[in-house]
Amino acid sequence: MDNNKRGSWATNFGFIMSAVGSAVGLGNIWGFPYKMGKSGGFSFLLIYILISATVGLVMMVSELAIGRKTEKNPIGAYRALSKPFSFLGWMAVIAPFLILSFYTVLGAYCLEYMVVNLSHIVSGGAALASGAETFTEMLISPVSSLIYTLVFIVFCYIINRGGVSGGIEKFNKIGMPALFVMLLIIVARSLTLPNAIEGLKYMFIPGYAVDAGFVEKAPNLITVLATAGGQVFFSLSLAMGIMITYGSYLKKDESLVKNSILISVCDTIVALLAGLAVLPAAIATGLSQGVAPSEIQLGGPKLLYITLQDVFNSMGVIGPIFGAIFYLLVVIAAITSTISLLEVVSAYFIDSRIERGRDPKRTKVISWVCVAVAAEAAVVAIDGLGSNGLWVPFQKTFGTIGSFNDCWLDFIDTFAEGFLMPLGAIIMSLLIAWIIKPKTILEEISPDGKKSFFSVFYTICIRVIVPVIMILVLLGQIDSFFALGIFN
Ligand code: PFF
Repeated sequence: MDNNKRGSWATNFGFIMSAVGSAVGLGNIWGFPYKMGKSGGFSFLLIYILISATVGLVMMVSELAIGRKTEKNPIGAYRALSKPFSFLGWMAVIAPFLILSFYTVLGAYCLEYMVVNLSHIVSGGAALASGAETFTEMLISPVSSLIYTLVFIVFCYIINRGGVSGGIEKFNKIGMPALFVMLLIIVARSLTLPNAIEGLKYMFIPGYAVDAGFVEKAPNLITVLATAGGQVFFSLSLAMGIMITYGSYLKKDESLVKNSILISVCDTIVALLAGLAVLPAAIATGLSQGVAPSEIQLGGPKLLYITLQDVFNSMGVIGPIFGAIFYLLVVIAAITSTISLLEVVSAYFIDSRIERGRDPKRTKVISWVCVAVAAEAAVVAIDGLGSNGLWVPFQKTFGTIGSFNDCWLDFIDTFAEGFLMPLGAIIMSLLIAWIIKPKTILEEISPDGKKSFFSVFYTICIRVIVPVIMILVLLGQIDSFFALGIFN
C-alpha cells in the first residue's frame, strides 16, 4: 500500500502532541480531580499511577505497535492480525463514533460558555447570570445548542481535512502548548484565592473529602480500583482505536515505549494541574458563599457548567477574562480529542478506498463522517441532557434505570464507555496473550527480539494484570450505569 496516501506524522514531537491532545480532554478536567478527591486523595493518585504504569502503558504500547505494524485503521489492523478477531476492530471504530455523538455536544457547550464570557468582556453591562441559570437556559434552547454543536464539528472538520501532518499535527503542535500556558494562568489564580487550601486538602489528603463533608462515604477498595482503571482508560484514549490509528502514521524508528511513557506522564500532569485549576477555586468560592460542602458540585458537567461559572462570576471585572481563557482551554482540549475520534472513523473509509485501488479522497470521506456525526450529535444536543424530554429508548417501559436511560447522552455512553471500551480491552489482551502471542507485539517494539526487562514485564501485564483490572472496570461500569449497587 502506498502509505503517503494515508498520511504520516512529520515529527515525533507532533505525534506526541497529537496523542497527548487526544488524551487530554474533558476526562482530565471534570473526571480526574473529583474522582481523586472522592476516592482517597493521594492514595488514589498512587493507585492511578500504578494502573497507568502497568495496564495503561502496556495497552498503549500494544495499540501503537498494532497500528504501526499493520499500517492500517483498527478494522484493517485486527483483520490482518487475526481474521476471527476482526470484530474487535469494529468495536474500536463503533465506540469512537458513539462517543462523538456527545463529546461534540459537550465541546459545543464549552464554546457557548466561552462566548458568554467573551461577550461580557466586550459589552460589559449587568452581572452575568448564575452558573445554574446559564446552564438551564442553554439546555432548554435546542436551536442554539444545535448551532454551537455544528460550529464545533465544522472546526474539527477543517482541521482533519488538512491531513495527518497538515491538519491534526499542526493544530496540536500549537494548541497543546497554548492549552498548557492557559492552564498555568488559571492554576495561579485558583491557588491564590482565600481558602484555596481546602481544595488542596480535598484533592490530596486521604479521607478528607469524607471528614469535611464533601462526600458522604468513602468508596471501598474494589470501587477505587474500578474507578481508577476506568479513568486511566478513558483519559488515555485507550480501547477506542485511537492509538492504533495514530500509531499507523508513526515512523518505524521511533521508540514506542518511550513515547507511551511520555504521553501517559503528560496526561497525568495535565490532570493534576486541571485539579489545581478547578478544585481550589470551586471549593474556596463555594465555602466563602456559605454553601455546604456536600452541596458544592465538584465533578461532571455540573462542575464545568455551573460551579466554575459561579467562580468566575464572583471574581468581579476580571472574572469573565479568566472565564473566557478557561473555557477556551477546555474547547481546545475537547477539539484535540474529537479530532482523534474522527480520525479513527475516517481512516477506516480512507483505507478501504486505497485497498480498492481508488483515490483516498480524504476531504470527501471526512465530510461524510462529519455529516453522520452531526446527525447523531443533533439528537444529543436537542435532548439537552434530558431537559427537553426527547424520547429515550426503554424509559417508558422500564422507567429510569440508573443513568443508563435517563437521557440520550447516558444511553449512548453506556454502550461506548460501559461495554465496548472495557470489553474491547479484555478481548484485546486475550488475543495478544494467547492467540497472536506477546512476541508479535514485542517484535514491533524492539526488532532485535532480545529478552529484556520490558518484554517480561509486558508479558506478565498482558496475561494477568490487564484482564483482571479490565474485568473490574467492566463490572464497575455496569454497576454504575445500571445503579446495581454491587460494589457498595
Ligand atoms: N481522553 C479524552 C478525555 O480524557 O477526555 C476523551 C477521549 C478521547 C476518550 C478520545 C476516548 C477517546 F477515544
